[in-house]
Formats: sequence, C-alpha cells, structure tokens
Amino acid sequence: MKKFAKIFTKSLWALFLPILISCSTRPEVSFTASESEPFRPEYHFTPKKGWMNDPNGMFFLDGEYHLFFQHIPDSTVWGPMHWGHAVSTDLVHWEELPIAIYPDSLGYIFSGSAVFDRENTSGLGTEDIPPIVAIFTYHNMAGEQSGKTDYQSQGIAYSTDKGRTWTKYKGNPVLPNQGVRDFRDPKVMEILKADGSKAWNMTLAAQDRIQFFESTDLKTWKFSGEFGQGIGAHGGVWECPDLLPFTAPSGEQKWVLLVSINPGGPQKGSATQYFIGNFENGTFTPDDTMIRWLDYGPDNYAGVTWSNLEEDDNRTLFIGWMSNWLYAQVVPTDTWRSAMTLVRELSLIEVNGVLLLKSSPAKELEKLRIDPIEVNQVSNLPSQSVEIQMELDGSDAFSLVLSNEVGEKVTISKEMGLVSIDRTYAGKNTFHPDFAAMHSAPMSWKAETLRIFLDASSVELFVNDGELVMTSLLFPSAPWKTVKLTNGIDEALVFDLK
Ligand code: FRU
Repeated sequence: MKKFAKIFTKSLWALFLPILISCSTRPEVSFTASESEPFRPEYHFTPKKGWMNDPNGMFFLDGEYHLFFQHIPDSTVWGPMHWGHAVSTDLVHWEELPIAIYPDSLGYIFSGSAVFDRENTSGLGTEDIPPIVAIFTYHNMAGEQSGKTDYQSQGIAYSTDKGRTWTKYKGNPVLPNQGVRDFRDPKVMEILKADGSKAWNMTLAAQDRIQFFESTDLKTWKFSGEFGQGIGAHGGVWECPDLLPFTAPSGEQKWVLLVSINPGGPQKGSATQYFIGNFENGTFTPDDTMIRWLDYGPDNYAGVTWSNLEEDDNRTLFIGWMSNWLYAQVVPTDTWRSAMTLVRELSLIEVNGVLLLKSSPAKELEKLRIDPIEVNQVSNLPSQSVEIQMELDGSDAFSLVLSNEVGEKVTISKEMGLVSIDRTYAGKNTFHPDFAAMHSAPMSWKAETLRIFLDASSVELFVNDGELVMTSLLFPSAPWKTVKLTNGIDEALVFDLK
C-alpha cells in the first residue's frame, strides 16, 4: 500500500444536497434523488416534467445564463417540439421558467441559437432596448408526412424582456428550404469580415454537409459556402453545428467546427465530431482529414456554446444533451426524460504535435464542493452525487470500480492505451440492446489526473482535466456502495459510500 496515498493524493468528495436545498431556485421541485425518482440528478439540469433533448439558444445577458431546450412538457417521448427555458446565475443551479417558444402553423420548433442584437440590426427592438433574436428550425410535420422534401426552414423570434416572452417574426420563414430534406439547427454568430465590416454568419446542417449563410439584419440570408463532402464521419445525418474561434497554443487563430452526427458515432448512435481549420467568407478549410470526437462516451450529443458572455469572460462554454438517440426515449425514468451534461469550457490544446479540443468542467462547478476529504483517511463517504478527483502517480493504468449491494458495477479504467467506461453490469439495461456495453477511447499519452462526476444516473470522466472526456448514463438499481481503486502496481484501496 505504500505508494497508494500518493496515487490518490487529492480526492475531493462533495455532497451537493445541502447546498441545493438551501438554494431555493426551484423551491417547488425537490432535487433529491428520491425513492420515486431515483435517477433524477441533483446537479445536472433536468426538466421538471416531460421530454427534453438538445440544448438551444444559449446566451448570457444581465447576469443570467439562459438555456433553452427541445421540450415537450406533457410527454416523455419526442413529439411536437417547443423551446423550454431555464436560467442560472452561476451555471450550476438552474431555475426552469415557462416555455419560451411554442409550435405554430409553420411547424414544430426545432433546435437553433439566439444572439443579442446589440445594434438592433434586425429592427425588431429599439436602439434603447435591443432585442435578443432566436433563430430556429421550423419542422412542418404535415409536409414531412405527405412526402415533401421542403418541410424544414428557418424562422426567427425576438424578445425584449430578457428572454421571458418571445414574438415570432411576421415574415417567417426567413430562410426557406432549398430542396434538402434535412436542413436545420442554425447557429448564428457575429463575424468580422476581411474588409472590416460586421455580418451575421449562420452555420446550418444540410443532410451530411454544413452550409453557411450570411446576413446583415438576421432577416435576409444569402448562401455563402458549404463544407463536408468527403471529409469527417458520414455514418448518419449531420446536426446541430457550431463554429468557434480559438487561439491555438502557438498563438495562431483557428476555427473549430462542431458537427453532431446521428447515427455514426464511435460508440454507436449519436456523437459530436469536430474539425479544426480556418474560416473566411463562408469557406471552412480544415487543417487535416483526421476524425476527432468531442466526447468519447455514448451520451453527449447536440452540444453547442453560449453567446454574448461578459466582456472579460473569454471562455467558450458548452453544454450537451446527456443522451443518445439510440435509446433516449426508452431510458427508465418516468415523469421526465433526459438531463444536460455539466457545463464545460472548451479550449484548443496540442498533444504530441496534434491540435485537440479540450473540454474541462466549468470552474463554477467547484462551488459545489464541500468538505473535501482525502480518500485514504476515511472509510465512509457520503452521497451518490460526488466529484472524485485523483492524481495518478507512477502508473498510467488504473481502474475504479463502483459496486452496489445487488451485484451491479461500473468500471472506469485505463489499460493498454485505452480509457474505458464499462456499464455492462451497471444496472437497468434491458430497455435497449445497445445500452449494456463497454465504451473505450484511445489515449496514447499519459493519464495524470482524473475528475469523475457522479450524479444519480450519470458519470462524466475528465482525464487530464478534459484532454479526453467520456460521458455515460447509468441506471443502477441500488445506490453505489463500494469503491475499489487499483493502479496496476499496488494493491487495491477499497472503501464504502454511505
Ligand atoms: C438533434 C435533433 C436536431 C433537431 C432536434 C429535433 O438531436 O434531431 O437536428 O433540430 O433534434 O428535436
């Protein structure tokens, strides 16, 4: 055992429950994983009731982070989509607000984005009260059912009261369908053009391509370019793109294009790939042809980033939908379905000469920590909702096995250059044949630190603070009780959770 204390020099265990109870952001709803809702997370966003999928329209304004989401309040399966709405002042505690945008005669309200139109370029607000403009996809179900191909188009709505109420623009759709069945998920941002002028750029998924459109008023859009033929993963439809500027470690300006794909992910079903390159005048030029995945777990999809962060906040903040279309509609939760991932900060890093997108837990999450405890000092640790932090010393191999009193277990490990989460025996899994599985990701460089966030029905693993990330749902039929840690060199350390 002699080196073991060093291996886990710093293990932080945070019990979140008391904090959430004392914080009354959602007083009418208990966050506690209760007997009736054992899988309801304590510190991940979930809708009070009903169905949720993609995060939409995230922006920051006047001290509030807004999160909209694909939502049906009265059903736990997908259907006529609304934009649900939640706000947070710290990216950790969320207050759900009334539904923001309802379907109408043009269709369901599919995914999209929102921008603060500070200079009122759209004319939808005033100089004194500039609008927030949401840009979303209209999905016309009748059109789809009658065999048409033009049933998806882009519409806008605006708010002049901090996102509380929204008015649809009378001239919708602002970007009619161009003859492509899958034509959706507009992500709009302001860009500075080569001639110094400003414009709005829309990044849109069109079947298994990305198309770019440009506008100066958010109401009239002109095609400016296309990307994707013969590059990247093409095992499914491309969805929910995002275009992000970064400074590479070399100081060079780079653009990252996030593209969610379903199916065709590395663990089956849905996943998010990304490209690194340059973007100018509607042309995205990738640096190479390597396929890169944002998160190697099975359960992080359709994630996009916040717009309009505070001036002195240079971060790129991301949130994803913590599920997979393979089984999202049949997971064993009754009154609600789906949670969001934790908020993550994205940055470009270089590993062995290769540029990669790192996803670190947002620093705000550290606020949830209470009572840090060194693992080797205790035998009983509290709660199912914990953060485990470890430093690996010496060996690049490790395994952490969580087990419960009914013989279920989940194994998180690195061995022979593969990081894995094995949920084959982690609890309820008969709802879908692909759920019980071990998911692995190649990591040729050394794992030095681990941060593992467990909440009632999920685990998020950040290796080296997010150089490699895996997100996985789990539905244990009894609380995790015992933790067993090994590093491949020393004997195991075993302790219990209460
Ligand atoms: C991705 C997605 C989007 C679409 C939305 C519909 O999960 O399929 O492409 O806008 O969900 O709910």
